[in-house]
Amino acid sequence: MEEKINKKISTESYKGVRDFYPQDMFVQNYIFKIMRKAAESFGYSEYGASILEPSDLYRAKTGDEIVNEQTYSFKDRGDREVTLRPEMTPTVARMVAAKKREFSFPLRWYSIPNLFRYEQPQKGRLREHWQLNADIFGIEEIEAEIEIISLARAIMKEFGLKDDNYEIRVNNRKIMNYMLENFLSLSPSESHAISKIIDKKDKMSGEDFTGKVRSAVGEESDKLLNLLHSKNLEEFISLLPEKARSHQGVLEIKELQERLAEIGIKNSVFSPTLMRGFDYYTGIVFEIFDTSLENRRAIFGGGRYDDLLNIFGAEKIPAVGFGMGDVMIRDILETYNLLPTYKPVAEIYICVLEEKYQNYANMLAQKLRADDINVAVDLSSRKIGDQIRYADKNLIPLVVCVGENEVKNEEFKVKNLKSGQESKLKAVEIAEFLKSLGS
Ligand code: HAM
Repeated sequence: MEEKINKKISTESYKGVRDFYPQDMFVQNYIFKIMRKAAESFGYSEYGASILEPSDLYRAKTGDEIVNEQTYSFKDRGDREVTLRPEMTPTVARMVAAKKREFSFPLRWYSIPNLFRYEQPQKGRLREHWQLNADIFGIEEIEAEIEIISLARAIMKEFGLKDDNYEIRVNNRKIMNYMLENFLSLSPSESHAISKIIDKKDKMSGEDFTGKVRSAVGEESDKLLNLLHSKNLEEFISLLPEKARSHQGVLEIKELQERLAEIGIKNSVFSPTLMRGFDYYTGIVFEIFDTSLENRRAIFGGGRYDDLLNIFGAEKIPAVGFGMGDVMIRDILETYNLLPTYKPVAEIYICVLEEKYQNYANMLAQKLRADDINVAVDLSSRKIGDQIRYADKNLIPLVVCVGENEVKNEEFKVKNLKSGQESKLKAVEIAEFLKSLGS
């Protein structure tokens, strides 16, 4: 016991999670603000849910890797298996299925949950991240994919990113399933196994990938490798048998890319190795990547999942959506020099010349707060120079000192610490003055 008490506890946070000091929180809030603004501009409503879910929710369709290797799961005191959510899609599907009779479709929903995955922490991947999820429920047609990808693009634009800073890789589960199950005649379990290998392609060397494909597919592996290495949709189609060239999966990709181009989204590329790890996708899948080689992991990932709501016994409700992570977008904003400059919340700092004026200073602060000004008051009774230095060090742009003259004349000198400029103002004029600065 004694030993336990004396042992110092480390100040380090848990592996793979972040502490957000005020300057980090400032960036995080900026990211959330842009995500919200863009999602709401498309008419998406915000929802939320608990971090805890019954583990069963993920067993059906989330995918073996995430469920077996990456979840934080435990038994609660009532012997129930509980998981910290590794993604939001099963939760939102559960919520929609639970109340589907009350809604009129389509539903356009978004959320910015924190998610937990037991990953090896590395650039772009942590054990806790926040992820904007935007999903549309109830639309079977490709209009849903177009809207969802347009929203993704609107978010990138709002962050200041240009179309050539990133590319939108697209593929279709329908054509991948056809290719594996019909063209290569693989059994469902073989085709599931090979799709997991394809999903991991970027995490291994070219040789390793070819070797793994050869041992999983055998004789047909050259056909598959040629398809997976095709440079564009035309080449991919030319390698398919005649009757598959107008397969619905292919037509959907073509239509999607054409329609996107028509509305000015010209940076989508067909990617035959894009699988997406989750088992619930049923149609178009997409991911967005930075085109500079600095950030090699996806920023967005999403697609169509028309059958996920069936696991709750609900009738089919088609759905399309994406997740966009805070870790990746922060890295990318840094790469392109687009991170916002930190501003503290306090707009003005009140310095107090003598202790006896403290209450007067507090009252002045109250008046300003009533006018929606964020104001902090010095509590230290330090020398006035030290009080001003404190404000400056904390990047508070303006100071006002309260002493005998100010109390007597009810007039204040508001000083801009950067320019050194002083403005003489009555108490009632200070708020107006600050607003005119747009601070
Ligand atoms: P996901 O591809 O696993 O999709 O994640 C989407 C995005 O979240 C990734 O592109 C990445 O930016 C970020 N992300 C994922 N894992 C991590 C991590 N460990 N650390 C940091 N960032 C990460 C999904 O989760 C799907 N449920 C998305 C979805 C919504 N599909 C349809 N609707």
